Amino acid sequence: MRGSSDVARLSVAGPVEGPATLRTGESVTVRRLRPDDRDGLRRFVAGISEESLTRRFFGAVRPERVVESLGAAAGDPDGLSLVLESRTLEGLRLVALGEYRRDGTGAPGAETAFLVGEAYHGQGCATVLLERMARSAVARGIRFFHAVVLAENYAMVEVFRGCGFPLEERWGTDALHFRIYLPEPVGPRAALVLA
Ligand SMILES: CC(C)(COP(=O)(O)OP(=O)(O)OC[C@H]1O[C@@H](n2cnc3c(N)ncnc32)[C@H](O)[C@@H]1OP(=O)(O)O)[C@@H](O)C(=O)NCCC(=O)NCCS
Repeated sequence: MRGSSDVARLSVAGPVEGPATLRTGESVTVRRLRPDDRDGLRRFVAGISEESLTRRFFGAVRPERVVESLGAAAGDPDGLSLVLESRTLEGLRLVALGEYRRDGTGAPGAETAFLVGEAYHGQGCATVLLERMARSAVARGIRFFHAVVLAENYAMVEVFRGCGFPLEERWGTDALHFRIYLPEPVGPRAALVLA
């Protein structure tokens, strides 16, 4: 298992929603995806390249189908969909999205996935989202995240390998299967801010 002796780079103590700072110094807001985000979500997905959509959904997908699927998943009580929102000259814009869905009510694991706007790659968005989702998951008693990552998706691999949480990796046919073990809750659960 990798990372088990590392000091976790990410902290599960702290709020799930609220402000965050990207590597560029830009301030963004982390918040839960809302039903009234449909137009914002449509605009966000319209700016995502075909390659990125393929990496996220493992095949060709229509943007409208992506919007529907991301929107529907946000209503799952056993999951969480978080967005990063940026303040631009044209108003607030969704720039990244991270999700986890528990494997079943009370299950120890949850599948996680990310989609970051092209202009925001490499600025720490996925790392921020992973940390915030980990906070929520730990507070809900989830013990690990899992994800399937295409072999050529170096950025996603780096996010997981660099997070500092203990992780297991195993090869599937053309993809890496990650399991990321979350830390025990810090302090009383009630002190954690649930999303
Ligand atoms: C994968 C993805 C979510 C990463 O998001 P991101 O916000 O750019 O990630 P971060 O900025 O937090 O971290 C990216 C890391 O990968 C590294 N990286 C980026 N491109 C890389 C490359 N081609 N090779 C190696 N490392 C790379 C960065 O240096 C950074 O590592 P660091 O934290 O050690 O500096 C984003 O690229 C994306 O949305 N891709 C399309 C959808 C997708 O692949 N989803 C994942 C499916 S589970």
